[in-house]
Amino acid sequence: MQRVAIVDPTESTRESLRTLLLGVDFVWLEAECARYEYFFEVIQASMPDLAIVALDADKNKALQMIGQLSVEHPKLPILTISHDHQALLQSLQKGAKYFLTHPVGLEDMLAALRRALGEHGGTGGDISQGSLTRQTGASSMIAVLGSRGGVGTTTLAVNLAATLAADPTHAAALIDLDLALGDADIALEVNGFENISIADLARNIERLDMNFLRRAMAKHEASGLAILRHPLEIAEGGAIHEHHVERILNLLKISYTHLVLDLSKSLLPTDLMALRMADMILLVGQLELSSLRNVVRLLHCLGTEDTLADKVRVVINRQGADSVEEGISLKKAEEVVGKPIFWQVPNDTKAVIGARVAGHPLVKFAPKSRVQQSIYGLAQALYGKPVSAPSEGRGSKSGWFFGKR
Ligand SMILES: Nc1ncnc2c1ncn2[C@@H]1O[C@H](COP(=O)(O)OP(=O)(O)O)[C@@H](O)[C@H]1O
Ligand SMILES: [Mg+2]
Repeated sequence: MQRVAIVDPTESTRESLRTLLLGVDFVWLEAECARYEYFFEVIQASMPDLAIVALDADKNKALQMIGQLSVEHPKLPILTISHDHQALLQSLQKGAKYFLTHPVGLEDMLAALRRALGEHGGTGGDISQGSLTRQTGASSMIAVLGSRGGVGTTTLAVNLAATLAADPTHAAALIDLDLALGDADIALEVNGFENISIADLARNIERLDMNFLRRAMAKHEASGLAILRHPLEIAEGGAIHEHHVERILNLLKISYTHLVLDLSKSLLPTDLMALRMADMILLVGQLELSSLRNVVRLLHCLGTEDTLADKVRVVINRQGADSVEEGISLKKAEEVVGKPIFWQVPNDTKAVIGARVAGHPLVKFAPKSRVQQSIYGLAQALYGKPVSAPSEGRGSKSGWFFGKR
């Protein structure tokens, strides 16, 4: 049972919030407060697992209180509710982690609670079962982590993101968090955009608003995928800290339904933040010794943090490539890794290199290729439901499941 505290000075909406929460079997309404001024003390006294703040009665007071709360209790997740999007955005900037648009339905509330409490070590609901569902007020986030250089991290991140973007009901973005040596923008040729990178966002973090953020997101027109690029200068990467990444990702969640993060191989604090915030971590390896050994080492390292280990899915890339296979079977790999291999992506040099040179993702360049069909299947497996592809992107049905065990 998770304990929740709420504050809403408006009696009628507080009542409906209470009624809503009473209908949720995994939360306990620990404290109810009618004044923003008193909520801080209420939190101190009740130490709940989640604070819910309705903003509309007095936005300024509410936002100020959220700022104070997030400084004093940085671990306490805060969920805000309002009908004013600007206020919700400001609440995220003040430190709130989740939001819901008023009026709130039970389904939305359930999804938000599961997410908020799940991410913070709670036990509420069926949150960690493996397939992602779209949550109201927050998008799903997939971090792609490589087990060594050249294993295909960027290739999979770019093409998974583009596959997600191809679904007309999605708004997908790729974030290049390989801050020093990122190259996701090579695979996605974008022209005519301002050269704003993640470094510029970090530099202006205090003044960051939706307009600036939107201008930083270059769009690959053919696929509809947005991309936030790595810093232009390698040295700029050092000035980007994990709290920058946290805030930028939280803001991006408002505009995009799907975020895919291409991480560095150095497990920097920025990478760790991304791993913590992600709903799912794809750990990319190949069927060869150095990569598999690093998969084991990374699993061990991530395993020291409770909430990370459960999110990891091991993906084998370049399956079938003579050059990388050292006679290691999938079964052997699973034994070594101690975890099932979630997905295998076939080796397909012609399609992958061709797409890269053309500056287009596979879903546009070679939609019928085996490698794209496999990535399409991966997206489907991650979400536990079909991701609808554009008509020309569909191949034979059996192809979708290539590599699935
Ligand atoms: N499934 C694949 N089939 C063929 N070539 C691939 C595949 N995945 C990646 N590659 C190639 O491997 C190289 C390294 O991939 P990249 O995505 O840049 O790796 P990383 O980001 O892990 O360093 C690239 O030249 C890419 O074209
Ligand atoms: Mg890379």
